[in-house]
Amino acid sequence: MKRLLLISAIFLASLSALAQETLTLRPDNLDQVMGALTLREKASLVVGAGYGSMLAGLSGLDVPVPGAAGMTRPVSRLGIPAIVLSDGPAGVRIDPKRKGRKESFYCTGFPIGSLLSSTWNTQLVEKVGRAIGNEALEYGVDVILAPGMNIQRNPLCGRNFEYFSEDPLLSGKMAAAYVRGVQSQGVGACVKHFAANNQETNRFRNDSQVPEEVLRTIYLKNFELAVRESEPWTVMASYNRLNGVYTQEDPWLLTEVLRDEWGFRGLVMTDWTGKRNTAAQIEAGCDLMEPGTRAQIRELERKAKKGELSEEALDRCVRRVLELVVKTPSFKGHQPSLAPDLEAHAAVAREAAEEGIVLLKNLAGALPLSGGETLALFGVGSYQLLAGGTGSGHVHRPYVVSLDEGLAREGLQLFEPLAEKYRAHIRRNPPGKSFLTDMLGSPGSPEMPLSTATVEAAGRGADLAVVTLSRQAGEGGDRHLEGDFLLSNQEKKMLVEVCETFHALGKKVIVVLNVGGVVETASWKHLPDAIVLAWQPGQEGGSALARILSGRVCPSGRLPVTFPADYFDLPSATHFPYDYTGRASMTAGSRKDDDVRNVGYTVYEEGLDVGYRYFIQEGAPAVSYPFGFGLSYTTFEVSGPVYADGILTATVTNTGSVAGKEVVMVLDPLLRAFGKTRLLQPGESETLVLQEAR
Ligand code: BGC
Repeated sequence: MKRLLLISAIFLASLSALAQETLTLRPDNLDQVMGALTLREKASLVVGAGYGSMLAGLSGLDVPVPGAAGMTRPVSRLGIPAIVLSDGPAGVRIDPKRKGRKESFYCTGFPIGSLLSSTWNTQLVEKVGRAIGNEALEYGVDVILAPGMNIQRNPLCGRNFEYFSEDPLLSGKMAAAYVRGVQSQGVGACVKHFAANNQETNRFRNDSQVPEEVLRTIYLKNFELAVRESEPWTVMASYNRLNGVYTQEDPWLLTEVLRDEWGFRGLVMTDWTGKRNTAAQIEAGCDLMEPGTRAQIRELERKAKKGELSEEALDRCVRRVLELVVKTPSFKGHQPSLAPDLEAHAAVAREAAEEGIVLLKNLAGALPLSGGETLALFGVGSYQLLAGGTGSGHVHRPYVVSLDEGLAREGLQLFEPLAEKYRAHIRRNPPGKSFLTDMLGSPGSPEMPLSTATVEAAGRGADLAVVTLSRQAGEGGDRHLEGDFLLSNQEKKMLVEVCETFHALGKKVIVVLNVGGVVETASWKHLPDAIVLAWQPGQEGGSALARILSGRVCPSGRLPVTFPADYFDLPSATHFPYDYTGRASMTAGSRKDDDVRNVGYTVYEEGLDVGYRYFIQEGAPAVSYPFGFGLSYTTFEVSGPVYADGILTATVTNTGSVAGKEVVMVLDPLLRAFGKTRLLQPGESETLVLQEAR
């Protein structure tokens, strides 16, 4: 009898060992897998795999997707694969080179966030999201770290280009559309940076001090909309502190508001920070530490053993990691083709650019061009278009169509002697190049000094002038007033001289703004005949712009942000590090700055007076271009707006002579709803039904 018991005990033990050995993660056995994980394995699942994938191009490390921002760690014995996370937002950011392959694997460079929101077309933004999601899928990426959706609180924020708007409704709707598009491809999106991450100066430590009502009305509202309307797989907790607490360690933000109130069911990951209190992050509901270090794993193990980290909290995070993993292409065994349809996606990038470019001024029908003109293109940006911003939002795209190329493709003539001068200048002064600029993008070449003789020769030889003014900004630093928000002296001189020379000859001047964020326009906008805001329009930007200038496409973009007449008209002007001259904030951020206003901490003293919310008030200064502004080559009539039960019905008729699209927005006095027509031929109508957001 005894012997029999012993044999069955051995038999059962070996059976359970076998079961353990063969236990493999499935979407329906998370509990079992959780039960089989050791403490070390649990700790390793909530801590990313480090900088290996991001720096693979430099180190030669063999990783699934070189250049991807991060990965999770696998637990192979339980069939838990590593998954791959990659930036966003203007396309998939991975290295074009892969070990052992000769070809380059580029990703489409889409227009920046500010341009996408200028389309006011959620269907189009969803289409962009689908294309990005598809590239992610076909290149082996599981989660795209996008969209960026912080509110554009102040025009000088260096990362505004990645974000959508000063208005939470527009921002939230655009983000939701982007997320839906990406996730329709079976890969995850990540809305970032949660929350109140509105400056780059001292970005790792700055404390945003925001009253709760303001937070909820503006800085959280857009995230709430995106979470409720698109169920992003993941959310990225920002670098900064919010009212004294790191967002990554804030149970109120990450659990009470995000999960309990809004019903978020996905995973929260950190922004790319190594050093925080990891146990506090886990307790707060931050599930995944990226990029992750071994020290964090050891810290979690130690604290769990000492009872300083509750097992329950760790288990919650581990479960969310597993819930994410089982949704991913990597888990499902998808074999990336490495061959997404880049041609089709380039067409989507161009379509988006064409709809998001905003016509700000068009005196006496200066635009569209009549077709037979010879154009003198001034400004380095005319020959070297800035397609996007710098930092993690930079995309390794196959090419950028510049404005001169785009115009040539449209069959327009350039005044070649001037073009040759600029091209030679660019050859002599190429954009900076280093391993960092290779990874993160670089500013363009410096502006070319112009002699009066050069301008006069162009005036004689060309029929019309285009002056491109360019701005580059990006992650890790905020913008400045001099020569950035404001035109530099050299740019002013160029603009004045070109306008005087061409106007004296009865010839027109068009300004193209190739910028990532708002610039001052009030002091010079009277000079040119037309102003086109191209934003940073992605790799197809030059084609899109040329097609707008030529009239092949009728502009239909509208501003998602106010252009103030003067920086200091903004209620947030002095509650922002506009005069910061310290170290670039990629590296800055020590405790010694904690007491420095706008650096260590930033008080959102303007409260709810963000963007047009302030300028629509009585007594507020006039703006240069208001929120929602944009001109067209045709005219529209909006008839019978009927409003009932939160639904607005309006019929839009194209009353002009060319086909175009029109945006309808309900500003009451704040933005309540918006929609865009399809392309309407002259005389054609469409009835839009707009649902008011709650
Ligand atoms: C940025 C994030 C980005 C991450 C990974 C961080 O520095 O703030 O937006 O997703 O890096 O590249």
